[in-house]
Amino acid sequence: MADKKPNIEVLFSSADIERRNKELAEQIASDMGEDLLVIAVLKGSFVFAADLIRELHHAGVRPQIDFMALSSYGDKQISSGTVVITRDIVDTVKGRRVLLIDDILESGRTMAFAQQELLDRGAEMVRTCLMLDKKGKRIVDFEADFVGFDCPDKFVIGYGLDYAHYYRELPYIGHITDA
Ligand code: IMP
Ligand code: MG
Repeated sequence: MADKKPNIEVLFSSADIERRNKELAEQIASDMGEDLLVIAVLKGSFVFAADLIRELHHAGVRPQIDFMALSSYGDKQISSGTVVITRDIVDTVKGRRVLLIDDILESGRTMAFAQQELLDRGAEMVRTCLMLDKKGKRIVDFEADFVGFDCPDKFVIGYGLDYAHYYRELPYIGHITDA
């Protein structure tokens, strides 16, 4: 894997991503106001979240940031598959306006679980922001509030997304054409 250079088809360039992040930040700022608790879901969203919070700054938002790691167990095809928190946030969400950020929405299970969990803990509002949305893959009834790009039904890498723990560092989002 690491010793041979794969062919990568670029789906979203770093310029595309930068442009879109600015638009998302404007939308989020006007919808949610300046006092936000951003919760980034690890590991996949860390690059996106790092860029987005700086665009949020330019849009006048003063976010606090926390992190959560979630794991999905069970067969992806079975809708009863459960999600568990493997690393919890430190901040309390009671009464807060929360922006939950993740990399990619597929079944919708991870985001549906996390949103409900934070609401159960007393968050005033929990909006969800996804860098990518694979609409055709949904298993549970869930729609994100803010979406970077609609994603084709391909396995994508880069900009935080990995394949076997590689490629998170790529500054663009692509698809391996010869794997
Ligand atoms: P779901 O919406 O609960 O199915 O969660 C989707 C999760 O699967 C994401 O957070 C990613 O970690 C992972 N994932 C799904 N599709 C891809 C992909 O194309 N590339 C890399 N990771 C992916
Ligand atoms: Mg993930």
